[in-house]
Amino acid sequence: MENTSQFFASEEREHIVSLLSTLLADYHIHYQNLKAYHWGVRGAGFFTLHGLFERYYTSTASRIDDVAERILSLGAMPPHTYEDYMDKTRLMVRGANECSWEMIKNLKTEIESILALSRTIICAATQAHDDVTVDMMVGYNAEDEKKLWMISAYIDAEHQHKC
Ligand SMILES: [Fe+2]
Repeated sequence: MENTSQFFASEEREHIVSLLSTLLADYHIHYQNLKAYHWGVRGAGFFTLHGLFERYYTSTASRIDDVAERILSLGAMPPHTYEDYMDKTRLMVRGANECSWEMIKNLKTEIESILALSRTIICAATQAHDDVTVDMMVGYNAEDEKKLWMISAYIDAEHQHKC
């Protein structure tokens, strides 16, 4: 079967696949953490945060499939077991019993971590002239930078004290 792997040096391809596999593992943990928050959130912010977490895990599910299929297009099998994901992820598993402020602060930290990895992938893919992976990551980063702006606005404690 022909795939895009023939266009890249094997060392560069393996490096990109390794980084994308870590990103895939992070997305799985991020997805499940968002599910836990969606189910566990309570209190005054419930209606806002319950819906926000659902939007975020829905978009994360779409990225999971896209990243896995990019790895396949590069000629490798994506990690696909929970053991793989727990082994590779850099994120912490979160619980549904956190208070809503912890949830939103931890969510911000997770998105920052994912964004940093995506930027590393852009550097590696640029060096390898892997424009498709670059394009994919740029699109994700634009969305994630916007999420971080919105979350920062939401948790702006200084502003809350003035209102
Ligand atoms: Fe739901």
